[in-house]
This record gives sequence, C-alpha cells and structure tokens, in this order.
Amino acid sequence: MPDPIVDIHTHVYTPAYLDMLRARKKVPYVHDPAAEGADSRLIILSSDDSPSIPQDQRGRPVDSSYSDINVKLDFMRRHGITTSVISLANPWLDFLDADEAQTWTERINNDLEETCARINKFAEENETGVKTLYAFGALPLSAPTAAVVANEVSRLKTLPHMRGIIMGTSGLGKGLDDFALDPIWASLEETQSLLFLHPHYGLPDEAFGGPEVTQRYGHVLPLALGFPLETTIAVTRMLLSGVFDRFPKLKILLAHSGGTLPFLAGRIESCIAHERHFVANGGKTQGPVRSVWEVLNTNIYLDAVVYGEAGLKAAIHAAGGHDRLLFGTDHPFFPPLDEKEDGQWLSVSTNFKAIEKTLSPNKDAVRAVLGGNAVRILNLK
Ligand code: URA
Ligand code: ZN
Repeated sequence: MPDPIVDIHTHVYTPAYLDMLRARKKVPYVHDPAAEGADSRLIILSSDDSPSIPQDQRGRPVDSSYSDINVKLDFMRRHGITTSVISLANPWLDFLDADEAQTWTERINNDLEETCARINKFAEENETGVKTLYAFGALPLSAPTAAVVANEVSRLKTLPHMRGIIMGTSGLGKGLDDFALDPIWASLEETQSLLFLHPHYGLPDEAFGGPEVTQRYGHVLPLALGFPLETTIAVTRMLLSGVFDRFPKLKILLAHSGGTLPFLAGRIESCIAHERHFVANGGKTQGPVRSVWEVLNTNIYLDAVVYGEAGLKAAIHAAGGHDRLLFGTDHPFFPPLDEKEDGQWLSVSTNFKAIEKTLSPNKDAVRAVLGGNAVRILNLK
C-alpha cells in the first residue's frame, strides 16, 4: 500500500449533532425504538419517512460508526488510510431556523476542529499509525444574511485543521444559481477555500415512478441515481448562471466523481452552444462565457468515489488528467452487510480496485489519486 492514503470523502455526525436530531420529530431526525437493544434509526431522506413504513424500520440503523471518531480511526487502520479529511454528513445544518443557524454551526465546526487537534496530538505522542485528521467545515446557510454565512468562511480559515467547506445543493434555499450567493462565492474565492459540493436531496420520488416505487427498492434509486443527478444539476446551474465567469478562481470538489457531469459535459456544452436565448430575471442574459471543459480543468476537482472504471475514466478524461482526482470512501455510509472482524469494506475495496485497474501500470498516478493529489491540493502535512 502506498503512503500517504488520504480519504477526502468521509463523514461524521458529531455527538452534539446527533443529540439535536434525537430531539426532532420530523426529517431529519433520529428515532430511538422502545424495544430493548434495537438500533436507533437515522431518518434523513424524505423518502425514508413514509407513514407506510413502521417507524422502527424507517431510514437506516445508526450505530457508533456515525459519531465515534475511534471507530473511524479503526476503519482507517483496517484500510491503510493514513489521513482523513472529515466532514459533517448530510443534511448538514440546512434545516435549522435562522436564529439558531450561526450558533450551531460554530459549535459543530469547533467540535470538528477540536477532534482533529486532539487525535493528531495523541497520534503523534503514541505512534498509533494513523497520522492526521483534517476537516471540512459546514456553513450556517439559513442564517439571516449571506454576509453572516460568508463570515463563517473567513472564521474557518483561521482554524488550523480546516481545509475547506462542505455544502449541499440548496444554497440559501433557491439552489446554486442564486445571485444572493455571490458574497459566499466571493469569500470562498478570496480565502481560496475549497468547496466540497455534496448531494442530499436527490430527485423527487416522481422521477422514479412515485413513492411506492422508490421505497420498493430501498435506497438504490435515491443514492445511485438521485444523488449523482442532483450534483450534476446543481453544478450545471452554477455554470449556466455564470458563477464561474464571475468567480473564475473558485475551487470546487464534486462528490461522487461529479455525479454525471464528466459523462454529460459534451452534451451540456453542445446545448449551451445551441441555445438562442438565455432568459433570466425577465430578460435576455449572457450565457456562460467559459466552457464546461475550461471549468472542469481549472475550477473543479473530482473525488474517486464512483465504484467503477467507466466512471473513473470519464472523470479523468473530463478533468484533463488524473491530478484533479482524489480518493474517498464515503464512510460510514455503505458498510458491508455481513461485516467480519477486521474485514475490508466492499465499498472501499471496489474503489481501490477501480483506481488500480484504471491507472495501472502508472504507479505514480495511482499514488497521486490515493493521496498525493490531496496532499498538494489541500496543503496537508
Ligand atoms: N447516504 C447518505 O445519506 N449520504 C452519503 O453521503 C452517502 C450515502
Ligand atoms: Zn458522502
């Protein structure tokens, strides 16, 4: 195994965050079943919360892997991961009321920073084998003004273990082509903070044939298709509204190898070239000036969480090479269904194998995707 191996896509729900979800009765929430020894349930996707599903079976079981950092460290050791950039998992703090968004965000971000500092100090003093933790912070997107949100971007820059920001696709509630987001893009650009764009909301059940069909297949349709398309739509709306023209130095890491963006980039570019009228805000507006390809080659980084060679090849081709591609696991999601003591997770080994097969025999390229790129791009020790 090469060293370093850096996992840039790995989530936590901090204990305080889970307590907050436990106190809620609507999505997102944690349900503790009355039966002794039964698993708590994490209900974060709206399709999970149907009255037709008994409450004790809604969502997914939530065990200590979601919040206990020692469980993540054990997962890292098992898979040879030397460094992880941890991020709050979806739906982050999107659902908070305006008056509590800022306090909660600061609290969660400070907890993440403190966890990284504590674990790294312990690892240094005790040679635990795990080298370092870093984090992506969350933003108080429901705060009263975009300026308040932008302030958190600047504050995060002062915390030593923060390496950027994780955010969903809803922005301030109207999506990522909302001009009200400009102060936030400006702040990200000015501080050169990486934005990790991650899906949560998926597609409406109707896109899959209605709620009954969605539920029939568990999480397969929302996670395999809804998530990647959500990311693709969000970043395409950013492009169409000229975000990358107004903020040409913005740096964005797209989850799940960009959803379907690498595969569809040519089609998106072609549709733009054939569109006569960009009509927005009641009038004709300028379409994007910089091409999808230029944006992919200068503004966008892709994780390698796509579980197959076809997706990785598209990602590498679209990003203009392997040096914008970064290994990730999506831990603690996708645990094996039959977990054995000390076993490797299928979801992780599938990604390891896909990277090896796609890039071999170029060992330097494999090393770059597994860790070198992250060290360079995120300025890790
Ligand atoms: N399911 C989620 O809800 N989030 C992830 O990041 C992965 C799977
Ligand atoms: Zn994820």
